[in-house]
Amino acid sequence: NQTRIAIIVGSLRRDSFNKKLARAIEKLAPPEVSFIHIPIGDLPLYNQDDDAAQAEPVTQLKASILAAEGVLFVTPEYNRSVPGVLKNAIDHASRPYGQSAWQKKPAGIIGVSVGVVGTAMAQQHLRNILANLDMPTMGQPEAFIQAKEGLFDADGTIGLDSRSFLEGWMRHFIAWVRAHSAIGNAGCG
Ligand code: FNR
Repeated sequence: NQTRIAIIVGSLRRDSFNKKLARAIEKLAPPEVSFIHIPIGDLPLYNQDDDAAQAEPVTQLKASILAAEGVLFVTPEYNRSVPGVLKNAIDHASRPYGQSAWQKKPAGIIGVSVGVVGTAMAQQHLRNILANLDMPTMGQPEAFIQAKEGLFDADGTIGLDSRSFLEGWMRHFIAWVRAHSAIGNAGCG
């Protein structure tokens, strides 16, 4: 039984640490889990006037979320909160009213920052948002990662220092998605 996870990265930066983290941690999951990377850089700025005729990138975003059992947010921290590009994507897929794509999708949050706080504040803000969207969000284990020498190996895998911790994190996250997915557990949604 394949479990599909939609990954949304909160950074558009070409050499983003969070993009690298997203690619690296998906390699820690078992083969029966597949990951779909959802682009958010081509979304227009959210405007409620457009709710009745959502742009193509928006309908695509919503379809990708709806097709997944769970959503993994991999995000940097900008000024102690989530980047605006991520909030823009979240707002888009939450509308029109009553037709949110997020409803009841199990979620996980992880992120890497150059600072020692390791995206802790951004993650707390994101938890607030996801609670409002009715997304069951994994509370533990938390993962606050600092971008340091050795975090990634030359081939882009997670370095040895963090590997077993992140393997454990991924194991918990997959179990969380399977336990809370409305797609996987018909009748429980
Ligand atoms: C940052 N950065 C940052 N870091 C942090 O730990 N806490 C913060 O509040 C902020 N604020 C912030 C605001 C803005 C506008 C920028 C551009 C950056 C630094 C951030 O951790 C660093 O740029 C990361 O490299 C961003 O993640 P990506 O793009 O590498 O994935």
